[in-house]
Amino acid sequence: MNLLGIAGSLRAGSFNRNLIRAAGAAAPDGVTVAAFGRLGEIPPYNDDEKQKAFPEVVTALAEEIRAADGLLIATPEYNYGVSGVLKNAIDWISRVPDQPFKDKPIGVMGAAMGGLGTARAQYDLRRSFIFLEGLVMNRPEIFVGAAHTKFDEAGALTDEATREILTDYMKALAAWIQRVR
Ligand SMILES: Cc1cc2nc3c(=O)[nH]c(=O)nc-3n(C[C@H](O)[C@H](O)[C@H](O)COP(=O)(O)O)c2cc1C
Repeated sequence: MNLLGIAGSLRAGSFNRNLIRAAGAAAPDGVTVAAFGRLGEIPPYNDDEKQKAFPEVVTALAEEIRAADGLLIATPEYNYGVSGVLKNAIDWISRVPDQPFKDKPIGVMGAAMGGLGTARAQYDLRRSFIFLEGLVMNRPEIFVGAAHTKFDEAGALTDEATREILTDYMKALAAWIQRVR
């Protein structure tokens, strides 16, 4: 089972990128998570540009989503919502013919320094996938708060309780993908 991981942050030391990596390590045998690394190349959505041609990076991301058995998205929380770069990517992909979020199993997660661990941003993200008919797993949920205390300098997850929750989450996500596909 191959998952595509998308972290909605461009920051080199992004906790959400770390979380995607940790999720791959915590996934059950036979489940891989490949991280999409080109989020920063996606231009701001412009419908005039779309009329001419989709940017290559958008087409490439759409194909990666199509090819994946499921999506795993780690969103930062920016001002109680999804980060702009992540929403921008979703907006582009949503306009690709036969948009690939439809019927795609999706896991939503997120890490933030605050105590609520991206709870508000995750519900914001889930709302977009209602319209796009993505099959977001309802439960379990995972909110990584105080993220600055849970990863080391190299970006490795050091918090044992979070690792256990993440391991259960990845098991549930694999089962969800099996169930809906
Ligand atoms: C523009 C901006 C808005 C933010 N708003 C929130 C917020 O609403 N809630 C929150 O918990 N953290 C907020 N933060 C702090 C982020 O949780 C923190 O920067 C986090 O490290 C972002 O994720 P990343 O490490 O993956 O880049 C905000 C940060 C920025 C730059």
